[in-house]
Amino acid sequence: MTNYKDLGLVNSKAIFDKAVSGGYAIPAFNFNNMEQMQAIVEASVEMSSPVILQVSSGARKYANQTLLRYMAQGAVEYAKELGKNIPIVLHLDHGDTLELCKNCIEYGFSSVMIDGSHHEYNKNVDLTLEVVEYAHKYNVTVEGELGVLAGVEDDVKSDTHTYTQPDEVEDFVKKTGVDSLAISIGTSHGAFKFKPGQDPKIRLDILEEIEKRIPGFPIVLHGSSSVPQDLVKMINSYGGKLDDAIGIPEEQLRLAAKSAVCKINIDSDGRLAMTAAIRKMFVEDPGEFDPRKYLGPAREALKNLYMHKIKSVLGSDNKA
Ligand code: G3H
Ligand code: 13P
Ligand code: ZN
Repeated sequence: MTNYKDLGLVNSKAIFDKAVSGGYAIPAFNFNNMEQMQAIVEASVEMSSPVILQVSSGARKYANQTLLRYMAQGAVEYAKELGKNIPIVLHLDHGDTLELCKNCIEYGFSSVMIDGSHHEYNKNVDLTLEVVEYAHKYNVTVEGELGVLAGVEDDVKSDTHTYTQPDEVEDFVKKTGVDSLAISIGTSHGAFKFKPGQDPKIRLDILEEIEKRIPGFPIVLHGSSSVPQDLVKMINSYGGKLDDAIGIPEEQLRLAAKSAVCKINIDSDGRLAMTAAIRKMFVEDPGEFDPRKYLGPAREALKNLYMHKIKSVLGSDNKA
């Protein structure tokens, strides 16, 4: 059993409390390789922001759980080497079973999500409670979810959003003892969140109703990539094919971050930034075959994207 504290990591409790009262949100950036990890740490240190290193079960399979543990420990040491001991959380994204959550905790995760949102309400409560009871023994924080996002979540596909019902949140939080709650208010995973012609809006009115029921309780937004159109254009102009990719306008996320939303999940925008930089390099220098020559610019593009998110969307700069 590896305790996350021995790796230099923190759980999400204190940073969420500060984010809720301070009116900003902590970035949760997904990672599964070294360049992404370097970009996350460099951007967070430069901006002096707390950060959540987020790992999906797919990322765990891709990168190997032992390597990920040492990469997270490496992230803490790298931040110190860069001159700033920022709070770093290692978080399981969309855990679907108690066994997976237990395993991650044993491997040094400081925070886990148990996503029971696809189950009926009482089963979601029971599963989430089981995870909370186990995790809290080790001071690991737990994120639950109520409501279903449209799109693909954990291989479960839903064409429409099932918005979180404000009337359920108080009961769910009380019965499960979760530390934070992911909600469904119109965000969705991936790069195709709205159809052309649709108004790209999230339901801030539902968020407001939820906040009234559980004042000051930490809320999480998944599916919060904005799908920057300059990156989509760049990918397409260098041989890619992303038709009608549309995300959440940054202005909407800025408003959410000022509320009790204290964690905003961003994965797809990072994928777009890396892909755009690599495609450009391949087209402009087809003779190049040293991976550092295309992964280096991809890492730089990713770092710039993360710094922009921290400063201009989440407002977590200078909060470390
Ligand atoms: O919520 C989904 C995240 O973007 C992780 O995606 O399961 O492809 O690693 P993944
Ligand atoms: P995006 O696909 O919008 O980046 O969302 C990522 C996410 O919610 C990870 O859990
Ligand atoms: Zn998600």
